[in-house]
Amino acid sequence: MTAEVLREIVAAAMASPSVHNVQPARWRIEGETLVLLEDTARRLSVGDPRGNDAAISLGAAAEGAVIAASGVGLMTRVERLSGGDPSGLRPIARLTFAPGATPDPLLAVLETRASWRGAFLPPSGEDRAAAQAFAGEDRVILSDPAAIAAAAALYDRASYGIMRGRAFRAELRHWMRLSPRHRDWARDGLNAAAMQLSGIEAAAAGAVLGPLFAPLSALGLAPALLAEASGFANAAAVVLFYRTASEDPFDSGRAFHRLWLEIDAGGLGGNVLAALADDPAAAASLCAAHDIGPDRRLVSALRVGRRDGAPFARARLPLSEVLLD
Ligand SMILES: Cc1cc2nc3c(=O)[nH]c(=O)nc-3n(C[C@H](O)[C@H](O)[C@H](O)COP(=O)(O)O)c2cc1C
Repeated sequence: MTAEVLREIVAAAMASPSVHNVQPARWRIEGETLVLLEDTARRLSVGDPRGNDAAISLGAAAEGAVIAASGVGLMTRVERLSGGDPSGLRPIARLTFAPGATPDPLLAVLETRASWRGAFLPPSGEDRAAAQAFAGEDRVILSDPAAIAAAAALYDRASYGIMRGRAFRAELRHWMRLSPRHRDWARDGLNAAAMQLSGIEAAAAGAVLGPLFAPLSALGLAPALLAEASGFANAAAVVLFYRTASEDPFDSGRAFHRLWLEIDAGGLGGNVLAALADDPAAAASLCAAHDIGPDRRLVSALRVGRRDGAPFARARLPLSEVLLD
């Protein structure tokens, strides 16, 4: 095991998804192991005060490393770490490697998977079949147009409820990069290209989430402006992803990353709908409607479909900032 192999594993794992693209994962090479740390300065203090989304993101990064390691024939043991963070770096897990792995089938899409926030093409029979193939014991696949429309309405309500929080919007805008001139455009956060917004749309989104929110809200116009009907139109399915209620969100994040990679491997694109899981009323309503019992927790949801365009360059921190000395 060389340091170069470990560097390559970390570089590939950096493609993993994270909430608002904050990229909380930091890595350190210790002997022949990799230690995963959380950069706690990247926590979303308003949107994620308990660190649930951070833990999901860190689990996703760990799973990214596990999948990357399989590509060089390495099996990975993931051992959770605990401890304080005097330096702002919280130990999360140690990854130990052993020979004998065959490449994970999801490896092919590890570094190409990306959020798809654009429109979908009308789903073909093949697309619907691809979406049905995501069925599994921890997901419900909603492919009936009426069920997708109901989820869309629930999403818009839940999302608006969350967006009404001024501090939430300020934090979201802090992570939005509305112009390519933003110094962090290619590094982190949500840039206009990733959000599939033109220059004018990006400026409008910044204003609606900023100074115009209160007046538009008072006029009753904000919900319609924030609604995502066009994103749901043509979705082949909405996937509800749930896990055992007591599961550590780090482990949920590992499984969530695998589900998302399955979607890309199936030729479709996905967009996370976290508000459906984060809003208690929306989550309760979906769980009741789709027989997700009280021993289960809705972790997340995605709308999936056939992308109507090409992917874009992803924003990521440089390896030198993520792999610590
Ligand atoms: C816990 C978690 C919550 C997320 N919530 C949302 C969301 O509500 N809406 C959205 O569009 N993307 C959401 N995402 C996707 C991230 O914004 C995305 O992974 C990140 O910007 C990196 O981009 P990429 O997925 O293209 O690699 C979420 C991701 C994670 C891990």
